[in-house]
Amino acid sequence: MALRKLVAGNWKMNGTRAMLAELPPLAEAARAAPGIDVAIFPPFTLLAQAAERADGLVIGGQDCHTGAKGPHTGCVSADMLGDAGATHVIVGHSERRRDQGETDELVRAKAEAALAAGLRAIVCVGETEAIRNEGGAIPHITAQLEGSVPPVGTGETLVVAYEPVWAVGTGRAATEADIADMHAMIRAKLIALLGETGATVRILYGGSVTGENAAAIMATPDVDGVLVGGASLSAETFGPIIHAGVTASR
Ligand code: PGA
Repeated sequence: MALRKLVAGNWKMNGTRAMLAELPPLAEAARAAPGIDVAIFPPFTLLAQAAERADGLVIGGQDCHTGAKGPHTGCVSADMLGDAGATHVIVGHSERRRDQGETDELVRAKAEAALAAGLRAIVCVGETEAIRNEGGAIPHITAQLEGSVPPVGTGETLVVAYEPVWAVGTGRAATEADIADMHAMIRAKLIALLGETGATVRILYGGSVTGENAAAIMATPDVDGVLVGGASLSAETFGPIIHAGVTASR
């Protein structure tokens, strides 16, 4: 079944207000691509202003806390993201799993908090190079899905992003064959975990996606879109990826 493609840009810890100038051309590209969803995940400081300029773009947060409010200095809740205009949130990105030591259990609790607040959650999974070289990629991703995917998730509320850690920010995207194998496994696992709705959860690929490789990656079976870091930082480099999403949807 062909699911509606989602082309998502994660700005990570990049962007001051000047970067908001990238949004109008991206919003225009999104409006010209009604058959796909185009999303930007700006840093928290730009979220509300980005949402005001969204106009056809989906806007989301890069992380949320498990609680709704309280004494957690520096944290942001899913309710607060929604109030700022976000409709989506990324949870369990490999950089947070690495830098903040986030566990599958915590990632699942964050995803549940997001869903409870009415946001859609993008749950990230991915293996390191060492795990892949040991032949452990499939068991690792299986365990991450079992631990991180909220059992109440549906095709409407949940997206999964497969982002091999060794491909993130390295310029070394996974091969289409490797992506196809992993996405087929993830699809089967989502159906096992969630039942029928697991067939409608979009599965994104992330890791060194560019305007050059995006079309082929999105034409790969069970790839329902891409999560893009570096190449999402300007309209010049993200625009061609949006076009690739349109082409792959035809
Ligand atoms: P990259 O990042 O496109 O810069 O490799 C992907 C991601 O972390 O989402």
